[in-house]
Amino acid sequence: MATLDSQRAVAVIGAGTMGAGIAQVAAMAGHPVILYDTREGAAAQAIAGIGKTLQTLASRQKVDSAQAARAVAALKPAQTLADLADCGLVVEAIVERLDAKAQLFAALEDIVSPACLLATNTSSIPVTAIGAALKHPGRLGGMHFFNPAPRLPLVEIISGLDTRPDTAQCLFDTAFAWGKSPVRARSTPGFIVNRVARPFYGEGLRLLQEQAVDAATLDYIARACGGFRMGPCELTDLIGQDVNAAVSRSVWAAFHHAPRFEPSLVQQELVDGGRLGRKAGRGFFDYADGAPAPAPSLAASQPRPDVIALFGGSPLAQALGSRLRAAGVPFQACAERGDGRVAQADEALLYLTDGRSATQRAHDLGQPATLLLDLSLDPATARCMPLAAARQCPPAAVAAATGLLQAAGLDVAPIRDVPGMVVMRTVAMLANEALDTVSQGVCSAADVDQAMRLGVNYPLGPLAWCARIGADTVGTVLTHLHAAYGERYLPCAALKSSIYSGIPLHVA
Ligand SMILES: NC(=O)c1ccc[n+]([C@@H]2O[C@H](COP(=O)([O-])OP(=O)(O)OC[C@H]3O[C@@H](n4cnc5c(N)ncnc54)[C@H](O)[C@@H]3O)[C@@H](O)[C@H]2O)c1
Repeated sequence: MATLDSQRAVAVIGAGTMGAGIAQVAAMAGHPVILYDTREGAAAQAIAGIGKTLQTLASRQKVDSAQAARAVAALKPAQTLADLADCGLVVEAIVERLDAKAQLFAALEDIVSPACLLATNTSSIPVTAIGAALKHPGRLGGMHFFNPAPRLPLVEIISGLDTRPDTAQCLFDTAFAWGKSPVRARSTPGFIVNRVARPFYGEGLRLLQEQAVDAATLDYIARACGGFRMGPCELTDLIGQDVNAAVSRSVWAAFHHAPRFEPSLVQQELVDGGRLGRKAGRGFFDYADGAPAPAPSLAASQPRPDVIALFGGSPLAQALGSRLRAAGVPFQACAERGDGRVAQADEALLYLTDGRSATQRAHDLGQPATLLLDLSLDPATARCMPLAAARQCPPAAVAAATGLLQAAGLDVAPIRDVPGMVVMRTVAMLANEALDTVSQGVCSAADVDQAMRLGVNYPLGPLAWCARIGADTVGTVLTHLHAAYGERYLPCAALKSSIYSGIPLHVA
């Protein structure tokens, strides 16, 4: 282990949201911590805030009170940069501007010892660019904490072109010693989380633009079918529509305007209208006192169909079977059919989406009564199932399909018939981005999954999810989406290689 000795002082520069959080983490790990900010009184104010937070946590027995008292005593404000001369590590969390950060590190090089490590908490500026003007760029790396730093376990340890391996290792081990779950990444746009998470927001926003669902229903589907902690609308309202849009724009620009990162017109309109989310009292949803909670649009209750049949042994067919059995609803269990149908309800035939619209699938099958089901995280426990009907589907077939799903205990969310539906489209794009990121040597397969679970609380890492549903299924979905919409949905080379070889990306 190359951990920074806990006796060594850690300096945190920038006493705002992130700096204060990082200072708290380092102090709780036993380091003397010096906090510096150019804003008069900001460091002392942040230390007082940390003191209050730790006191509250100790009174609720969330942290050890002696450890909290030691941490508060270990925090000192610095008057000038010269006070940082004896530090073993400096973590920078100032304004997100390259010129400001480069200037700060250049000044620090004249103050701290050559052995002192330098870390930046930047979320979007290349570490290589920040280090470019340094005399010793090898000792600079990224230490990208997530907000709130004391609570979120993920830290992305970023190596720029010049970062020495022992620097990255020490930052990694130190983050680990501070109780975090670090991952390693190369300094590429968005690092891991801010790149791989883009489709979660981007596809949700596209679905709104296509009028596939309303915001409350989209969020409900993401939670109750996809197993995500929050839907894209409530999450971007929490992050701030302006903040989320700015990250999307910066990743899009950094990838030379690649269509898959294209910013959303729906989100831009919210920003233009000052509907920035919770902090503005209004975003997708209204946060005024007494405003009604967002309610999803669900199908009205339909009678149970006379004929219910389930086909084959897919996870979805099996889960529907168990749910119907548990509800005491009789059904016929039938062998798989060549067309991949999952269920029949009277005349309605139900299929798992493969990235084609129900309308196209009905046409290709020559079967007007075609309806599509979405991917769910776990069909045995999901509370909701989105349902898309072909335009040529008779209303009685829609009612029968709805009745079957309701008999299985599912809320049915009727959505407009768009290719790929909601969860399948989102997960296929997340998996594609994760595969692309790993294949470009940004990080390991294990680290991309860990980063997405710990950084943004995904219920499964995108690569684990891809393995669960099958790379060939993801490839088929994206190929159909590509045919429908164009370049945005091109399967990446790594996905194609996994499909053709049958070997997952991370297996050599
Ligand atoms: N807020 C987040 O969710 C988040 C998450 C991860 C990373 N980051 C990154 O962390 C950094 C800080 O973000 P924040 O949200 O804490 O910002 P913030 O505005 O809350 O705090 C920044 C602080 O830096 C001080 N400052 C500015 N220039 C300075 C300088 N030259 N020297 C010393 N102090 C200076 C400011 O006075 C301010 O107190 C940014 O690089 C940001 O991209 C932010």
